[in-house]
Amino acid sequence: MINNILEKVGNTPLIALKNNENAHLNVFAKLEFYNPTGSVKDRAASYIINRLLNQGVINSETTLIESSSGNFGISLSAYARQKGLKFICVIDNTTLPVNEMMIRLQGAEVIKITEPDERGGYLLNRIRTVKEIIQNTENIYWINQYENPLNAQAYYDSLGNEICLEIPRQKLDYLFMGVSSGGTITGVSQKVKEKYPNAKIIAVDVDGSVIFGGKSRKRFIPGIGSSLRPKILDSAKIDDVVSVNENETVTSCIELLEKYNIYAGGSSGSVYAAVHKYFQLHAVDKPVNVMCVFADRGERYINTIYNAEWREMIENYNLTLA
Ligand SMILES: Cc1ncc(COP(=O)(O)O)c(C=O)c1O
Repeated sequence: MINNILEKVGNTPLIALKNNENAHLNVFAKLEFYNPTGSVKDRAASYIINRLLNQGVINSETTLIESSSGNFGISLSAYARQKGLKFICVIDNTTLPVNEMMIRLQGAEVIKITEPDERGGYLLNRIRTVKEIIQNTENIYWINQYENPLNAQAYYDSLGNEICLEIPRQKLDYLFMGVSSGGTITGVSQKVKEKYPNAKIIAVDVDGSVIFGGKSRKRFIPGIGSSLRPKILDSAKIDDVVSVNENETVTSCIELLEKYNIYAGGSSGSVYAAVHKYFQLHAVDKPVNVMCVFADRGERYINTIYNAEWREMIENYNLTLA
């Protein structure tokens, strides 16, 4: 028995994805959309807020602020409200309407950036706005997921730990995770490498993101990718990077739904696509255990990834780039 559903963070299901095309690949997915507000970011939001309160870094009068275009904003608004804290969420024009609605419904003040920055995205302007507000507000704490070590620590202690305990037959060969702030992969990779030093950590990014040195361009699916390289990634233990394009993401989301009844969000499709792409280039001649982190659920993408007209628009856009 628990007092509040928000306490039910973590211990998400791990499921096997049977693959008839490649008998050597034993693929498992950690369904992070079973967290209370529907994404992996609940782990970071709950952990960071609890740690800050316990350490006295913030108090009941503190205002929290963060730049987030979606899941982290939803998680923070829920956990901030649970603790009676004020929360300002800086979003932008590309935030999915359903995410913006959730953030507002959970009591956060929303500031929406509509002016693109010099790189054509919104992130730099979102961060500038956060800095301006901090300068003019007393007792305010910027969560700062791109630089705050607590973001990675949250995943080291929770998801990393869970994965280590759940590895089938105590053998982990590959672990695929999407990257945005870098919190998930940094914390999880540190934990997993302590216990399984030979496990290969594969970072999944999207074309148009600059995190691993790619060229910046317009991206339509929120979740992973970024127009800056997060500082906390410097301590991540990454063996390889796979970048997927948005058509591959969309195709994989549809495949997950049709083949496994998994109604997953965009980055889960990207991770699943990355597994196929990776093993096309790196053939294996013996059975390997491959774990994937599926970060959020499909409902948030009902008007995009799961909408045929939108998919056609994305395909046409990508054809113009080819
Ligand atoms: C859907 C989704 N997948 C993956 C990630 C990546 O997580 P991280 O920010 O820890 O790198 C995020 C982060 O917002 C996300 O929303």
